[in-house]
Amino acid sequence: MKLIPFAEQYPGEFLERNEGNFNVFFDKLTQFHIGTRNDIGDGTNSRRRISNRFKYAEELKDCSINEKGIASEDVIGEFNDMISGSLRHQDPMTAFNIIPAPLLDVAAGLAILNLYTPNACWDFISGKICLYEKKIARMLGQLVNWSDAEGYVVTGGKQALIYAIKSGMGRAQLDSPAEIGDLVVICSNLAHYSIEHACHFLGISPENCIRVATKASGEMDPSALEQTLRRVAAENKRVATVIAVGGGTVNLVPDPIVEIKRVIDRSVQQLGLDYTPHLHVDTVISWAWLAFAKTSDSFWKKDQDPTVVNKIVSVVAKLEGINLADSFAADFHKTGFCPYAAGVYVVRQADCLIGLNNNSMGLGDELSFGEAEPYRETLENSRPANGIAAIWIALRRMGLDGLRKFILYQLNVCERFKQVIRKNHADHFEVLNDHTMGWEIVIKPKFHQKLSWDELQNSTVEEKQAYSEACHLFLKEFWYGPIEDETQKSPILGFIKSYSRKGKYEQAFPAFLIHPTSLHYNESIIRDLLTCFVNKKVRFEQNHNEMVVDEASEYLTRFVPPK
Ligand SMILES: Cc1ncc(COP(=O)(O)O)c(C=O)c1O
Repeated sequence: MKLIPFAEQYPGEFLERNEGNFNVFFDKLTQFHIGTRNDIGDGTNSRRRISNRFKYAEELKDCSINEKGIASEDVIGEFNDMISGSLRHQDPMTAFNIIPAPLLDVAAGLAILNLYTPNACWDFISGKICLYEKKIARMLGQLVNWSDAEGYVVTGGKQALIYAIKSGMGRAQLDSPAEIGDLVVICSNLAHYSIEHACHFLGISPENCIRVATKASGEMDPSALEQTLRRVAAENKRVATVIAVGGGTVNLVPDPIVEIKRVIDRSVQQLGLDYTPHLHVDTVISWAWLAFAKTSDSFWKKDQDPTVVNKIVSVVAKLEGINLADSFAADFHKTGFCPYAAGVYVVRQADCLIGLNNNSMGLGDELSFGEAEPYRETLENSRPANGIAAIWIALRRMGLDGLRKFILYQLNVCERFKQVIRKNHADHFEVLNDHTMGWEIVIKPKFHQKLSWDELQNSTVEEKQAYSEACHLFLKEFWYGPIEDETQKSPILGFIKSYSRKGKYEQAFPAFLIHPTSLHYNESIIRDLLTCFVNKKVRFEQNHNEMVVDEASEYLTRFVPPK
């Protein structure tokens, strides 16, 4: 039988050998766009249209692989269905969480990159991609004055945490092997909720993932860390990694890194440890603030709101301590204009990666093209290059100047939101988080104009319960009501199940979160969003004179991840 090239059996479906049919690819892009654009309505919908809250079991029941391939038009229809209901981060009415706005150059570059499927497991296959990954780590390291930084592009903050813990596990056992049950990880009460799960993946048990107390400011208490280090040593356990907070999506308040490092070094001396625990700073959001650290003059402060300037100056001052750490993380899918997944795990120097490697070639400065093999250290074997390409394009297109302008914009948007709430809507909402240095806005609804946050702290058990129940009920209507509504133009805001401004020094209650990361805010859009939210709250109050317990709405908040 004559061999017919597969591509000839499917004409126009694959890139030709000489890539002469690129126009077919562009046509396809156009077709995909035409087949999906209706679901954004007139462009002011906060999520792509979705017809109902489907049941998964119902949708899955008739699912099977087709015998014959279906037509492009049909698959475009299904693709459109697949992305229906996704939030539209472009729309300023979507202020739900940090949602990245990819640069168009990044999206275009990725579309081309995917035609080549480079595998970043080994440079022999993927050309210079491993070199660019190393350049990214080196450039980010320079932001904290590390001249020999190394690292890997990862799926995000959680993978960076896994790498940081694994790096530290290697260092803690270099001279004295330890049982897995004798390795601990230390972080603060307010560090990211994924740390226990990261430990779980690495075999570290929940009791060996130790959370130490924070001060009322939300920062790790260095004396609590010191006591914990003593206790761990007294139990003959070893510290794999200490994780310092670089700032969360809610409460962007970095830990005191310099003091943490001082406590670690002092403990190593006093306790006679034969290793220094790895210190990782979880700066997945706040790494972008380092762009301000790199400018010696203060031109960027000119004409800026003093609140915004003070916020930036204090974050930059806190982050100076990263220079003393062993690693930090930077998510470009949070504060770097890239789509998911694009994070970087950056280490001070190559030997900080020791725990990742079970089979190193360790060529160091002798490394030549054809010899870079990241797979020996990374979780993935086949490694996507998407994150590397996206990060490079974004970093180079924006530069430090673009990052600074972005943060200034976001912080100004935050201040405008707070001003309008205080001036026009103080009867309905109270701004709770003036202490944070980020751009998130946490607000408490005043249902029927009752009880401020401070009054709630001192109110009766019944009043506290009534407030929480009203929040849950309002959330249910606010989040899910618009899905049944054809226009789907409602604002989409975040929710915090259990919010406290001061950790355990204040009782936690539900609160609403405005995380305004659309890049299209102006004064009138901010006013429109808040007016719309107030109207929804007023309508809710009119329909619920008496707050009633609704188990379904309380149940719903089980699905809101902690912040
Ligand atoms: C401080 C912090 N660390 C870690 C993570 C986890 O990052 P990712 O979701 O990219 O894995 C987040 C996510 O929001 C975060 O805010």
